[in-house]
Amino acid sequence: MKKILSGIQPSGQLHIGNYFGMMLPMIQSMDEGELYAFIVDLHAMTSVHDGEKLAKGTLNAAMDFMALGLDPERSTFWVQSDVPEVTELAWILSTLTPMGLLERCHSYKDKVAKGVAPSHGLFAYPVLMAADILLYQADLVPVGKDQKQHLEVARDIAIKFNNQFGEIFTVPESVIDDNMATVPGIDGMKMSKSYGNTIDIFQDEKSLKKSVMAIKTDSTPVEDPKNPDTCNLFNIYKLFASPERVAEVRDLYVKGGAAYGRIKLELVDILWDYFAVARTKRSELEQDQEYVRDVLRKGADKARRKACVTLDLVRERVGLRY
Ligand code: ADP
Ligand code: TRP
Repeated sequence: MKKILSGIQPSGQLHIGNYFGMMLPMIQSMDEGELYAFIVDLHAMTSVHDGEKLAKGTLNAAMDFMALGLDPERSTFWVQSDVPEVTELAWILSTLTPMGLLERCHSYKDKVAKGVAPSHGLFAYPVLMAADILLYQADLVPVGKDQKQHLEVARDIAIKFNNQFGEIFTVPESVIDDNMATVPGIDGMKMSKSYGNTIDIFQDEKSLKKSVMAIKTDSTPVEDPKNPDTCNLFNIYKLFASPERVAEVRDLYVKGGAAYGRIKLELVDILWDYFAVARTKRSELEQDQEYVRDVLRKGADKARRKACVTLDLVRERVGLRY
């Protein structure tokens, strides 16, 4: 049975890009392998420097993921920092990670350009991510396209390590759905918490409407033909509407008659309904946070047992046993 693993940062409200890029593929693969899902609070520390905010964000992200369908009975679900072995492995891996490999990572440069402080932790982020993946011997890692390079780093590190110390690690593969690779934000750039261009999954109807109405569109008159594939609104709409409606609206774009305002209002309703079940589940979990903490603790115990097996072997091979 393949091990499928992925993590999400609790660094802000989760949005529909996170949903399609990572959460949905994880939820859908629950029965296709052994699933490992976790909230990466140690990674979020590279951008969140407010203890209360991080702790709250972690619990919220866990509740979001469970509300959207991640079943802790059919997966191992935990918070990264509850398995401290990962930081030890990250250190060990870092001693074999070439500087050049990290220097080439776009994500570091992008984040610094966006104003994230260029700390050592931010630079070493891909090594901790490799440790996350290799510690559990994951085969497959479902992520959005932006994480592809980090997966390549994890593979490079695994191969280097195996060459040096003998086969220890499974070399992981990323799973990226090309149709879904990047969900656009309301401004047409990649949707991202740090660009302020998101449509959040759990928000009240009024703010949902506000973000949908703010989706950027051009000023082509309603009756003129338009290209649906370059239209940000259509690209978001098609993720949620039924195939029949998508075909009808596509037709309106091509032949003329697509009114952005009307499509946006329809999208608000579709989105509101789409997440209705998850919203109900989310408020139930919110009422029973002790249950959520308990799920996470049990998940961490389960994850830790697996982590210790790998780390024991690593310690022995690298010479941390005397
Ligand atoms: P953000 O960019 O909002 O901070 P994260 O870096 O926390 O998001 O990403 C969490 C997961 O969601 C990753 O697997 C990432 O690839 C995926 N993801 C984030 N934004 C998008 C997007 N716009 N489209 C598709 N997947 C995305
Ligand atoms: N870097 C990933 C992101 O920003 C989160 C992450 C941390 C992750 N560790 C991971 C994803 C391990 C997959 C596997 O989205």
